[in-house]
Amino acid sequence: MDLPSFLWLWRIAAWSMGLSLTAYSILALTGFAIAHYRKSQQISPGWWRTVHLGVGVVLVALVVGLFAIGIVGTLGEYGNLGHSIHGLVGALVVGLTLSTGAIALQIKTGKPWARSLHVRLNLLLGAGFLWVLWTGWIVVQQYLPDA
Ligand code: HEM
Ligand code: HEM
Repeated sequence: MDLPSFLWLWRIAAWSMGLSLTAYSILALTGFAIAHYRKSQQISPGWWRTVHLGVGVVLVALVVGLFAIGIVGTLGEYGNLGHSIHGLVGALVVGLTLSTGAIALQIKTGKPWARSLHVRLNLLLGAGFLWVLWTGWIVVQQYLPDA
């Protein structure tokens, strides 16, 4: 029960989570820009696409990093895993992020199902982020001294 010894790790986690939410917002905006260009059949959304893909890769890296931090931090603290539902929700978010990214890469190759699946998975991912934040916050409360 010595969270302070891992404080630097949780600090990185907090920053990563903030950056993840920022990345998600940018992806939503640039995603809508791509859809807009596509529907109005204007010039290709080339630039928006590049930004969207780049930020998407950043998001994947952040989420995988958070997963690693959660596991390393928990192992360092308890020596084992599975202390709350939070870890499971975290795994779900990692799965969703990897899936939506992998499926997004199929959009280009002209598979019509890939585009709608990408958008649906992203809505789920948004809910997943809120869930992992909520459960993570509850876990953090248990470490904090009563104030
Ligand atoms: C996980 C990382 C992500 C990657 C690698 C990624 C990649 C892509 C790619 C390659 C496209 C196709 C662009 C084209 O049509 O040429 C796309 C479209 C799109 N993405 Fe993402 N994306 C990611 C996350 C997200 C997130 C989190 C959102 C929303 C919150 C989002 C929303 C959209 C939207 C709305 C479109 C346009 C669909 C359409 O044309 O109707 N993406 N994405
Ligand atoms: C995408 C985001 C996140 C992922 C993928 C993730 C993943 C994980 C995983 C896999 C564990 C190990 C849990 C176990 O096996 O017991 C963990 C632990 C933990 N996480 Fe996260 N996490 C995320 C976000 C957060 C956030 C936002 C917070 C704080 C508000 C947080 C706080 C914690 C804490 C305090 C633990 C210690 C483990 C415990 O006592 O249950 N995490 N995380």
